[in-house]
Amino acid sequence: MSAVLQTNTIVIEKLNKTFQSRSIANPHYIIKDVDLVVRGGEFFILLGPSGCGKSTLLNMIAGFISKTDGSLSVDAKEIKKPGRDRAMVFQQADASLFPWLTVRQNVEFGLKMKRVPKLKRREISDQYIELVGLKGHEDKFPKELSGGMKQRVQLARVLAISPSILLMDEPFGALDAMTRRTMQKELIRIWQETKKTVIFVTHDLQEALLLGQRIGIMSVGPASKITEIYSVDLPYPRTYADPRFHELHQTIQEHFDKE
Ligand SMILES: Nc1ncnc2c1ncn2[C@@H]1O[C@H](COP(=O)(O)OP(=O)(O)O)[C@@H](O)[C@H]1O
Ligand SMILES: [Mg+2]
Repeated sequence: MSAVLQTNTIVIEKLNKTFQSRSIANPHYIIKDVDLVVRGGEFFILLGPSGCGKSTLLNMIAGFISKTDGSLSVDAKEIKKPGRDRAMVFQQADASLFPWLTVRQNVEFGLKMKRVPKLKRREISDQYIELVGLKGHEDKFPKELSGGMKQRVQLARVLAISPSILLMDEPFGALDAMTRRTMQKELIRIWQETKKTVIFVTHDLQEALLLGQRIGIMSVGPASKITEIYSVDLPYPRTYADPRFHELHQTIQEHFDKE
């Protein structure tokens, strides 16, 4: 028998999610019949209007909420609960940072939980604090940081525990346009350096086109599904100036307009 290769490939088949509804005969589907394969090392975007079920789908992949039925696996292993192979970056950094811990302590928190020795923790936190551009801010508390800096701390903290799958739920949605652009560029650099599988949720088509190798379009809910997947065959770093960027933007915009 051959072992399953650890490629961090996510396979979703006929996935359904219903939430409690008064009518059992007529269940309320949030997600219905979602089929998707995200390849190991891929940067995949889930794009869809607000309320369509993007967070619900991402939370099922994270193992935070359970599916109703269908199948959801990483490297052929069914997802039943959160795992160290997966980590989530949330839209609001405030919801995930500990206000009573400094930047360094926040970044080292997950490592401490994993019982990584002190010196090693320090080495890893130094590395990721530098990677996200927060060198010199190690001893500050979250309340002393701007929104963009807090989001960087969250990213550093997640990267420090080195998950092979990075789940990102509109992580830059609350940032101003300039900070957002910087973070997008840094994320691409980090992804290219670390070869992680990334599933990035957004409702912003421009952001999707700047970041993703493929863009899965989710339909308006209820009973949302992935109606189309577009490949974005443009080199990084991407710019709005590329005429093919505009072509794809228009194609996908038309797809939404038809719905
Ligand atoms: N725990 C829950 N119970 C009932 N309905 C929920 C729950 N969580 C989300 N929903 C509903 O599921 C739909 C999709 O929500 P969500 O996944 O947050 O969408 P998105 O992230 O695309 O904005 C919404 O209509 C929302 O009201
Ligand atoms: Mg959401």
